[in-house]
Amino acid sequence: MVKKVGVLTAGGDCPGLNAVIRGIVKTAEYAGVEVYGFLEGYKGLIENRYIKLDPRVTGGIISKGGTILGSNNKTNPFAIPVKNDKGEVDYEDKSFEIVERLKRDNYDCLIVIGGDGSLKSGRDFTRRGLNVIGVPKTIDNDVPHTDITFGFYTAVDVATEAIDRIKTTAESHGRVLLLEVMGRYAGWIALAAGIAGGADTILIPEIPYDLTKVAEKIRQRRALGKKHSIIVVAEGAKPVDGELMVKATVGDSPDAVRLGGAGDYVAREIEKLTGIEARNTTLGYLQRGGNTCAYDRILSTEYGSMAMKLAIEGKFNEMVTFTDGKITHVPLDEVAGKETKIGAASSNIKPVDLDGDWIETARRIGICLGD
Ligand code: F6P
Repeated sequence: MVKKVGVLTAGGDCPGLNAVIRGIVKTAEYAGVEVYGFLEGYKGLIENRYIKLDPRVTGGIISKGGTILGSNNKTNPFAIPVKNDKGEVDYEDKSFEIVERLKRDNYDCLIVIGGDGSLKSGRDFTRRGLNVIGVPKTIDNDVPHTDITFGFYTAVDVATEAIDRIKTTAESHGRVLLLEVMGRYAGWIALAAGIAGGADTILIPEIPYDLTKVAEKIRQRRALGKKHSIIVVAEGAKPVDGELMVKATVGDSPDAVRLGGAGDYVAREIEKLTGIEARNTTLGYLQRGGNTCAYDRILSTEYGSMAMKLAIEGKFNEMVTFTDGKITHVPLDEVAGKETKIGAASSNIKPVDLDGDWIETARRIGICLGD
């Protein structure tokens, strides 16, 4: 009988995290299971900082973005940097003592709500004998085995509204306006928002772009009397035979590469090629903040409730997924830590399906995809 469950949110935040926590807590309440939330992701787990979660604490959080538990994308409990006597950095594995403590404190299971890196740590904890259930989290919608991740449609809504807004100013000035959106090595947000916002060109990591094709599209539109153009650029988009645009690499962080600059680069080059004014707006964290859209609230509630259902039924070491319109689960081991090669990057992601409906529709209605 499962009596006590821990939960943490790790990695970058994402709209819907609070709704997942609420789904977990409300499902636990009916089964008489106690839930404790570790603060700031794995950092709080290592330092044993937590709060008790019950429906009084989670009341009213379904709509709010962010996470009431706080998050952290810099701590890997299996490799914590510590300076040795010589001032060099050594890596310490805290996982054994964490598992020992959780068992001593009568935790039956730990629910990890996180992205690829955090779920991989969750999987590694199962190898130390801890019961873990994973809930995938990302606005990028790039988790294998999962059709839609919560947070994605909120980000798409925000990006679509941004396109609506830049469109009216682009029209007024006859400019080429670009919008750089998040998504890391996958183009889901760019593709979905680009279609929804009526973009003329969408550049995604899965289709390396040729700028002469993009310039041609702009000229074609001008020939038809449409002076403005809207280009959505995924942050991970890169030119044919070119490289990813990296803004920074961040020390010891498990998320070492910070993408950025793709939109500015395309704007600069398009202006050179066409002689038409081209300017980029980078949407950034607006996509991740604020309120969670209705679809994501429903999906998050389902993800959270299913995670607790699995715990109650003792079905551990699984990751909750949304497949073919149903909330279900796959073994954590099948998903976490699997590498896929995406151009120069190596990551565990589900790329945009180039034979999928969205790409086909985009091509049929004349959207330029840079190829
Ligand atoms: O993975 C989610 C995401 O928002 C990406 O789309 C983006 O590249 C990245 O996180 C930004 O992360 P950080 O919080 O480290 O800046």
